[in-house]
Amino acid sequence: MSKSNELTRVWDPLVRLLHWTLVLLVAVAWYTGGMAGPVHEWLGYGAATVVAMRLVWGVAGGPYARFAQFVRGPRETASYLRAVLGGRAPRHLGHNPLGGWMVVALLATVGSLALTGWLYTTDWLWGYAWLEQLHAALGWLLLGLVALHVCGAVATGVKHQENLVAAMFSGAKRAARGDDVA
Ligand code: HEM
Ligand code: HEM
Repeated sequence: MSKSNELTRVWDPLVRLLHWTLVLLVAVAWYTGGMAGPVHEWLGYGAATVVAMRLVWGVAGGPYARFAQFVRGPRETASYLRAVLGGRAPRHLGHNPLGGWMVVALLATVGSLALTGWLYTTDWLWGYAWLEQLHAALGWLLLGLVALHVCGAVATGVKHQENLVAAMFSGAKRAARGDDVA
């Protein structure tokens, strides 16, 4: 294998397992939302469990799983956004700054869906229209975020000539070279 095609492990097995489990649970939870019942509710609790595990892994996991590695401050994020708009964004080995904030937004939205869904089933808040509307609005918000997330992953992959979706399955990415950053 030539040096320029050398691969390096980025996404550890738990990151990959949690990602695709979450995708599956959220997709079926979304599908079953209209006929809400125990199946929908347990799928939602399953998704909440994945989010909780990912939060723990975000402090205890491998280098590229850690929030401290990929959640950047506003200045760095804005400068990355300017670079994207100018077509000169550097390649990141882990999540890029915008991708990092997308991870936070996705996890927070799934968590809020599970929380509002659960609250709606309690004696305390059952039947309140505002809570049902909030749960539904979060569902639409999640759909929009996921669309943006997938577009971002595909566009970034095209820009840097690598398949980021395949990397979320294999865990491996092209090793850093030139101006690449962690
Ligand atoms: C319900 C839908 C989805 C949710 C909630 C979701 C959530 C997430 C989260 C939380 C991460 C961070 C991974 C980590 O560090 O643990 C991530 C990364 C990623 N996801 Fe998704 N995802 C969804 C759907 C998809 C789909 C459908 C695809 C592709 C077809 C995809 C491709 C990726 C890729 C490529 C990354 C890595 C991004 C990078 O290279 O920085 N995701 N996603
Ligand atoms: C990943 C997490 C979840 C997603 C994506 C999700 C999504 C949805 C969607 C799209 C709807 C239909 C909203 C509408 O148009 O009216 C819905 C309804 C509902 N969800 Fe969830 N949900 C999640 C978690 C939960 C959980 C954990 C519970 C309860 C334990 C729950 C309870 C309900 C109930 C009771 C309804 C029906 C509300 C009504 O009477 O119209 N959901 N959900």
